[in-house]
Amino acid sequence: MSRVQDQPDRYGVVTRVLHWGMAILFAAQFLSAAAHWALPRENAIREALWGYHVTLGITLFLLVLLRGVWGLINLRRRPSHGGDLLGRAAAAGHAALYALMVLVPGVRLLAAAGSERGLTYLGMTVFAPRETGIAWMRAPAEWHGELGWILALLVLGHIAMAVGWHHLVKRDGALSRMAG
Ligand code: HEM
Ligand code: HEM
Repeated sequence: MSRVQDQPDRYGVVTRVLHWGMAILFAAQFLSAAAHWALPRENAIREALWGYHVTLGITLFLLVLLRGVWGLINLRRRPSHGGDLLGRAAAAGHAALYALMVLVPGVRLLAAAGSERGLTYLGMTVFAPRETGIAWMRAPAEWHGELGWILALLVLGHIAMAVGWHHLVKRDGALSRMAG
């Protein structure tokens, strides 16, 4: 039986469900961003893929907050990366992934909070429309797309390290402590 909480030799079921579930949702989110970037406005595939971008983006934002809290609760029980240079680089890489997972949707949500249009999520009003927009709240969203693509590159590096380095080269079981 898999443990709910993390252990020093393997991640628990909550961490794993969040990790792999969010990995699938991030793939769908990057697909939607790629359609926005690559396809013309009236294209039907672009419309279908772009149509869920905001809803899925907010869902991912809520999930990463939950995952962060769960990670902090489990911090002292989690598998260690070791104190050597590569171990510290792995920990820094994970911290960067977390920072961008919060920042990328965060800057867009801040912009929505300061906009004339407001924001609804699953039929609920999150931010009511304002009479006049607030410039400083909208400014960081200029970086949303760029930060999103940097996150995509970081994820590719993360996958290359997990599968290429840990699983195929070092064969140290790092992949299986997340895969279960
Ligand atoms: C983790 C969640 C998210 C990721 C990874 C993400 C990623 C991206 C990326 C990579 C682009 C650039 C597409 C291009 O180059 O054409 C983009 C654009 C956009 N996203 Fe997101 N996004 C997320 C969440 C959100 C949220 C929550 C909102 C709205 C509240 C949003 C609204 C937009 C809009 C309006 C654009 C087009 C304008 C622009 O590039 O800033 N996104 N997103
Ligand atoms: C095929 C895709 C993926 C594979 C094979 C993979 C593999 C792994 C493995 C093996 C670990 C454990 C590393 C260790 O303890 O040393 C891990 C942890 C982690 N991964 Fe992934 N990963 C994938 C996708 C993603 C995506 C899309 C994200 C975020 C956008 C992500 C973010 C993280 C983070 C933040 C951790 C640290 C543990 C945690 O807090 O969840 N991964 N990944």
